[in-house]
Amino acid sequence: MKVHVDPERCQGHTLCAMIAPKVFQLDDVDGHSSPISEDVPADQEELVAEAVRSCPERAISLIDE
Ligand code: F3S
Repeated sequence: MKVHVDPERCQGHTLCAMIAPKVFQLDDVDGHSSPISEDVPADQEELVAEAVRSCPERAISLIDE
């Protein structure tokens, strides 16, 4: 699975990085999220799915390959 954060939608709510800190990093300047790596490790998939559901801006998408 791959994860994508839409930079237009992300408003820096930080929930994604709190739920899955190994997957999402927050920019020091604007607080926006981006994936550390687009490829989601198998043991992180459940946390990323939770982050997708939790993002108030619906900025995160998971792409099943
Ligand atoms: Fe952005 Fe949503 Fe995370 S708004 S910081 S992708 S919880």
